Amino acid sequence: MCGIVGFTGRQSAAPVLLDGLKKLEYRGYDSAGIAVMDNGTISVNKVRGRIASLCEKTGDGASVPGFTGIGHTRWATHGAPTEENAHPHLSNDGRFAVVHNGIIENYIVLREELIRDGYRFQSETDTEVIVHLIEMYYAGNVRDALIKTANRLRGSYALGVICSEEPGKIYAVREASPLILGIGMDENFFASDVTALVNHTRNVVYLEDGEFAELSGNDIRIFDCSGREISKKVSRITWDVQAAEKGGYDHFMLKEIMEQPAAVRATVAPRIKDGKVDFEELAGLVPELPDVSKIVITACGSAYYAGCAGKYALERLCRIPVETQLASELRYSDPLIDSRTLLIVISQSGETADTIAALRECRARGAKTLAVVNVVGSSVASLADYTVYTRAGPEIAVATTKGYTTQIAVLYMLAVFFAERLGRLDDAPELVEELQALPRRIQQAIDMNPSVPALARKYHESRALFFIGRNTDYAVALEGALKMKEISYIHAEAYAAGELKHGTIALIEEHCPVIALCCNPSVMEKTLSNIVEVKSRGAEVLALPFRDNRRILSAADDLLFIPDADALFSPVIEIVPLQLLAYYVAKANGCDIDKPKNLAKSVTVE
Ligand code: AGP
Repeated sequence: MCGIVGFTGRQSAAPVLLDGLKKLEYRGYDSAGIAVMDNGTISVNKVRGRIASLCEKTGDGASVPGFTGIGHTRWATHGAPTEENAHPHLSNDGRFAVVHNGIIENYIVLREELIRDGYRFQSETDTEVIVHLIEMYYAGNVRDALIKTANRLRGSYALGVICSEEPGKIYAVREASPLILGIGMDENFFASDVTALVNHTRNVVYLEDGEFAELSGNDIRIFDCSGREISKKVSRITWDVQAAEKGGYDHFMLKEIMEQPAAVRATVAPRIKDGKVDFEELAGLVPELPDVSKIVITACGSAYYAGCAGKYALERLCRIPVETQLASELRYSDPLIDSRTLLIVISQSGETADTIAALRECRARGAKTLAVVNVVGSSVASLADYTVYTRAGPEIAVATTKGYTTQIAVLYMLAVFFAERLGRLDDAPELVEELQALPRRIQQAIDMNPSVPALARKYHESRALFFIGRNTDYAVALEGALKMKEISYIHAEAYAAGELKHGTIALIEEHCPVIALCCNPSVMEKTLSNIVEVKSRGAEVLALPFRDNRRILSAADDLLFIPDADALFSPVIEIVPLQLLAYYVAKANGCDIDKPKNLAKSVTVE
């Protein structure tokens, strides 16, 4: 995933571009560059490394004249992170510059054709074929050249383009990668997401796949892939700039953990009307529910683990079989999906390549598709038949927290909503009260555990950690282990507690930390026996029970408390102390918490 920005107006472009790129650095940060037009010439500045290096090279943009430009921050996919491979890429004649987020799947064939036609390549990237195609097709009209170029491309692309023959104009093209236009006062923008725009404007237009935009300082024109001009709705960004900043916390991740009560409230509350769960956006799906023979949940990473947690509530309340399948597996599994399948696809960014591919595969097989996403206008949202937005607000930290908990909250609400519409719910009021109590209980789970930093100092030098649980607790163990791995770099393994004796218990040795989730009464005795098993082999057990569970209190070495709740909905609460534990362990180890090594916020490549 990469971040692109564009600006045209009456102020110096370079500082505006650099400011926008800083806000997008979480999307990829191994190289960066800007291209600015001045007096009919395009100047390009690129660096390997972070935006800070680009700011240093350009004097924070002061050394780059011009009022029109584009910029890019990169997460390498084709070609190593080098200055040559950094965007923007220039055409051979120097008249065009291009920035790109996405992947051109047919770039090898195009590259060979262009080289045969005499074009010289400066980089190893897939992107560079775009700028040479534009030069090749340009016959005096940039928009026409862009349309012809787009017709040759296969894959995903959000493009920003400038042409020295058209001073004061920037062009944007969207296909399967996010791209948003910002409308200012005598200035206009584009960016990969709104965090790069809110400092300048709150009025935005979400481009959709196959759309082209031509922006000048006082005008925005949008066209479809046939070149016909179209009109688009202007949306207003409601959250403030601070929402996308750290807000006084050391890291975005801690801020976003603490935002979870508010995020879950923003996700749940608007959908509770007259004591019932109501999804207006699903009105068209309700008549089809009785025909649904199975639900398949697909996603990647934490979004997949959110699906694992929500599965229990959907099955228990709707009495419909629910399968959870990793998107990267589902897309190649020749899945048994048909028109009686409801596919629930979960994605915070809405841009995860495997998730998009699995969604396309299931759509092609006739499934009804329902997206649970956080980013408005994202590719997953555009592709699904129905979309339910989580309302977590911008999530900047690479390791998701509020994105994950709001996803589970939506799944719980879907379970109640579907069951009620299917006439299979006889305790709706109690369940709705439980849903409305979730924000309060998440806050309690934060407040009840001031010992987390001390526990983190006890465990932060561990070689490995085991997370165990049964049923709904096992789903929490999966996400707890991932959080620990991806930000502290300590090996952590989630295990169904009942499986330990089938091999893994061989790894339990003196002082080996085992984190036991113990919030499901139906399997409590069994989990307790697993705690005893590992302790008898020398393990140190950190247990997470409901606060008044005396049996567990006496068996474990350390405790983190979970406020009493309906066990069916407790995973969205249990995960919070584990998020904090992973955060403080990573902090104790001096890790780059918001931008862990090798990771990006959204994996838009296979
Ligand atoms: C979560 O902490 C990870 N960064 C990762 O597993 C993430 O959940 C996964 O890549 C899916 O992303 P998405 O929700 O944006 O599709």
